[in-house]
Amino acid sequence: MAATAAVMQCAWPGARVLLPERIYYHTRSLAETVFGPWGLVPVLVPMDDLDAVASALRAGEPPAFVWIETPSNPTLTITDIAGVVALVHAHTPRDGARRTRVVVDNTWASPLGQQPLVLGADVVMHSTTKYLAGHSDVTGGALILRADDPMAEQVRRIQVLAGSGAAPFDAWLVARGIASLPARWRMHVEHAEEVAQAMATHPAVHAVHYPFLPGHPNGDVARRQMTSGGAMLSLQVRGGRSAALAVTAHVRVFTRATSLGGVESLIEHRASVEGPTSPTPDDLLRCSIGLEHPADLIADLAQALEGASASG
Ligand SMILES: Cc1ncc(COP(=O)(O)O)c(C=O)c1O
Repeated sequence: MAATAAVMQCAWPGARVLLPERIYYHTRSLAETVFGPWGLVPVLVPMDDLDAVASALRAGEPPAFVWIETPSNPTLTITDIAGVVALVHAHTPRDGARRTRVVVDNTWASPLGQQPLVLGADVVMHSTTKYLAGHSDVTGGALILRADDPMAEQVRRIQVLAGSGAAPFDAWLVARGIASLPARWRMHVEHAEEVAQAMATHPAVHAVHYPFLPGHPNGDVARRQMTSGGAMLSLQVRGGRSAALAVTAHVRVFTRATSLGGVESLIEHRASVEGPTSPTPDDLLRCSIGLEHPADLIADLAQALEGASASG
């Protein structure tokens, strides 16, 4: 969140900033409740719809940045990164101090799953808390910019003067985690693909959100810009909120907890975590697929879904 805040602090006073409607709840909350009163003007856009992005760009002053989060938390909505970059280049001035930047929160894809700079983005943000560190024992973030971008110096100034530098031990944990990222990522993805496929045919589940499952609304874009569907997925269960909560109470291999990207599988009822203003469906469970045997994960979800319907 400190990395995200630094991007927002680099925007000029009074700037419009375009944010996706489907976005990590606290990124939106930070823009609206902290930086809104300081003069940022957040505009929510269905970023997976390029016509809507073009209209938003034309509707006012060029924004300081267009924020992309793909796949998004928690609905796995896919945004066409190169498509948004092309629109920003077509509709906003490309030089001068007030240049619109495309910023991509790449946390859910991991650096191995998607490379936004190659697709033309200006800035990449990672919560290193997740796959980069990989063991749920550190919080941190990173911003990756092009070497010749003057915003890099501004970010460094914010990092030093506003105190968001990582503590040495936390930085060491992230560096150690990165060494095993390629091996972990391969396993995370393989397991997630198996769990997504198994859940897609489970009678107690009415929707599985996973970018590489057939039928994903922007699956073609996902396959173009991602090397895999990643290791996060969301399930919508039959029986609404109470059934979803009951599933989280019945799991034994999954741990009921927030956060993601660690070696252990986690499940959470996202609407409860986001609170009363959450736009997330009440029957949605977000799953971070870890390194346990996929058969154990599938069996655990199946017994929890059965337990939930028996208790419900
Ligand atoms: C997509 C995304 N971006 C940013 C964050 C914030 O990361 P952190 O908890 O490391 O501040 C999260 C956390 O869940 C996330 O899922």
